[in-house]
Amino acid sequence: MRAVIFDLDGVITDTAEYHYLAWKSLAEELGLPFNKDFNEKLKGISRMESLELVLSLDQGSYSEEQKLQLAAKKNDLYKTMIAQVTPADLLPGIEKLLKELKEAGLLTALASASKNASFILDRLEVAHYFDHIVDVALIRQGKPDPEIFLTAAAKLGVAPADCVGIEDAEAGIQSILAAGMFAVGVGTPAKMQQADLIVSSTERLSLSLLQSSFIKKALS
Ligand code: BG6
Ligand code: MG
Repeated sequence: MRAVIFDLDGVITDTAEYHYLAWKSLAEELGLPFNKDFNEKLKGISRMESLELVLSLDQGSYSEEQKLQLAAKKNDLYKTMIAQVTPADLLPGIEKLLKELKEAGLLTALASASKNASFILDRLEVAHYFDHIVDVALIRQGKPDPEIFLTAAAKLGVAPADCVGIEDAEAGIQSILAAGMFAVGVGTPAKMQQADLIVSSTERLSLSLLQSSFIKKALS
C-alpha cells in the first residue's frame, strides 16, 4: 500500500447532501418525482449524466440548449450551498487520516467527478494534503470506468495494485475495482456490497485499518 486515492463528495465532506438538495429542487421545479433512493443513482457520475437520469423521469423531450440551461441552474444552486463550506465541514476522521498518511510517507490523490472539487478543497483548507488532484476536464470516461482512478495512480507514479481508493458511491467502488485497486466503501453494506472494506462512517478510517485490511486481502 503506497497511495490512497480519495473521492470528495460524501467522503471528505458531505457535499453529496447538497448535490441531492440541488437536484431535488430542480426536479420539483420540473414536476418530477425525486427521492433519496433515486438520488443514489446520481452519486459519483457527472453533472450532465445526472441530468439525463433526472430527465428520464419526464415524458417530454429537451433540446441540448435546454439541458445545458438546466444543468447550469442546478450548478448555480449547488454553488450557493458550497460557498458556505468551512473546515468544520470536513467529515469526522478525514483530516486525522490525511495527516497520518503524510507522516507515514504515503501518497494521496483526489479522484472526484466534480468540476467544483478544487473550490471545495480550498474552502475546507485541505488542498495541501494532496499530491495530485485529477483534472476531471481531462477524463473521457466517468465512473464506473476506471479512468479517473488509473489517472490518479499514474500521476502519483504508483502501480494501481499498490493503491487504495475510498468512495461513497456504487459507481465509484466499481471504478476503483476496475482499476485493480483495493476499494474502501463508506456507507451501509447493502450499498457498498462490492467493496473490499466497508466502514459505516469516515470516523472509522485510519492508516492502521487500511493497512491491515489491505494486507489481509493481499494474503487471501
Ligand atoms: C460527484 C458527485 O462527485 O460529482 C455527483 O458524486 C456530481 O453527485 C458530480 O454530479 C459532478 O459534480 P459537479 O460539481 O461537477 O456538478
Ligand atoms: Mg462521492
